[in-house]
Amino acid sequence: MGRGWGLLIGLLGAVWLLSSGHGGQQSSETAAQRCFCQVSGYLDDCTCDVETIDRFNNYRLFPRLQKLLESDYFRYYKVNLKRPCPFWNDISQCGRRDCAVKPCQSDEVPDGIKSASYKYSEEANNLLEECEQAERLGAVDESLSEETQKAVLQWTKHDDSSDNFCEADDIQSPDAEYVDLLLNPERYTGYKGPDAWKIWNVIYEENCFKPQTIKRPLNPLASGQENTFYSWLEGLCVEKRAFYRLISGLHASINVHLSARYLLQDTWLEKKWGHNITEFQQRFDGILTEGEGPRRLKNLYFLYLIELRALSKVLPFFERPDFQLFTGNKIQDAENKMLLLEILHEIKSFPLHFDENSFFAGDKKEAHKLKEDFRLHFRNISRIMDCVGCFKCRLWGKLQTQGLGTALKILFSEKLIANMPESGPSYEFHLTRQEIVSLFNAFGRISTSVKELENFRNLLQNIH
Ligand SMILES: *[C@@H]1O[C@H](CO)[C@@H](O)[C@H](O)[C@H]1NC(C)=O
Ligand SMILES: *[C@@H]1O[C@H](CO)[C@@H](O)[C@H](O)[C@H]1NC(C)=O
Repeated sequence: MGRGWGLLIGLLGAVWLLSSGHGGQQSSETAAQRCFCQVSGYLDDCTCDVETIDRFNNYRLFPRLQKLLESDYFRYYKVNLKRPCPFWNDISQCGRRDCAVKPCQSDEVPDGIKSASYKYSEEANNLLEECEQAERLGAVDESLSEETQKAVLQWTKHDDSSDNFCEADDIQSPDAEYVDLLLNPERYTGYKGPDAWKIWNVIYEENCFKPQTIKRPLNPLASGQENTFYSWLEGLCVEKRAFYRLISGLHASINVHLSARYLLQDTWLEKKWGHNITEFQQRFDGILTEGEGPRRLKNLYFLYLIELRALSKVLPFFERPDFQLFTGNKIQDAENKMLLLEILHEIKSFPLHFDENSFFAGDKKEAHKLKEDFRLHFRNISRIMDCVGCFKCRLWGKLQTQGLGTALKILFSEKLIANMPESGPSYEFHLTRQEIVSLFNAFGRISTSVKELENFRNLLQNIH
């Protein structure tokens, strides 16, 4: 790629960016600047600056949040990974049930789970080679200790259902199983290329209030009518733009994780996961992505602020004496609740919260319709997660959409939360264990992404 080409792209980038005066001196920019120079200062649609978020997250929130997420209450998530894709026939062979061979490496796997399914059919055998990589890296480890299995039976008794912002993931179904999130970290799985693009493309194309006439390039690395796309985005009302940005932020966050936990070495002896700078640059470098990358990172911060805001709003629900993080271990449960409240108070103290009053500020009827639109689109996106071919990606995709859905449910329920009785059951507003686990784990992912950006910034600085 010649210098002239870079210059042209840089100029276009400068025109496209509504940004805050951090223009592009393309050729003399360092690798770090090319990803991050536009990702600083004030964010659009909000009065918060990136540096404040970084400091707040990386040093005050992130360490405590990690500790909380390692507790039993938060590490087990029930999910149905076997729901068929409702929109098209499974696109990837590797997403087929027969092909999802469980890695069965240990005797810990309880008999109940072992006997459930997973026989090798002849067909599956034929597909085996093709799917091997996806299976090995994308398979979900479903092992739970016997003790845990007993405990989770108790947990469900502490739930009751309520209206769902997301498609309720029929967790009563016999196909739904608890997974240990600590055993199944979100990381590079080898799931990319056309299948992965198709999922995101469908999400953007059909579910982000996007007019049919403007086509986004299927391959995120390909060039296209970005200019038209962004001027269209600018023309949208703030709520619809926000919806798009949330989804884009989620997409960015997932890609940060995949770049930060890339499979660097894969031998019989050793698997090594770590930062892949090239992968990160391909997704976020301002020049390589023709201006898209920095925008994606901004959307990630936007998503962070929205979830942060929801957590600050929901504090009264968790503060009620009746609320417990029930796992059966009284002392541990009480300690975890204290840690949880500490985190939520910390979040509440964040000085630059997103002002969600700019959402739905228009006339009442219009606002109501918009909320309903939001809800429908969002439910749809959670169903699309059933079409993700790689099981581990599906797990984290579902968890993070449910978490974001829960955050939106909270923001839309502000009045109900404010009117909640201080003791006794809360009938107007309720969160199930599933919603709580997904809310905090989803936020934990975004928080990790923000922290990882600091790591990448340092790594990129060192190569120049
Ligand atoms: C839901 O997604 C499907 C598949 O992409 C699409 O055909 C449909 O129009 C979407 N519906 C809504 C309400 O977004
Ligand atoms: C890093 O990612 C790129 C693709 O973006 C890949 O070609 C390269 O092999 C990866 N590096 C390592 C060390 O795995």
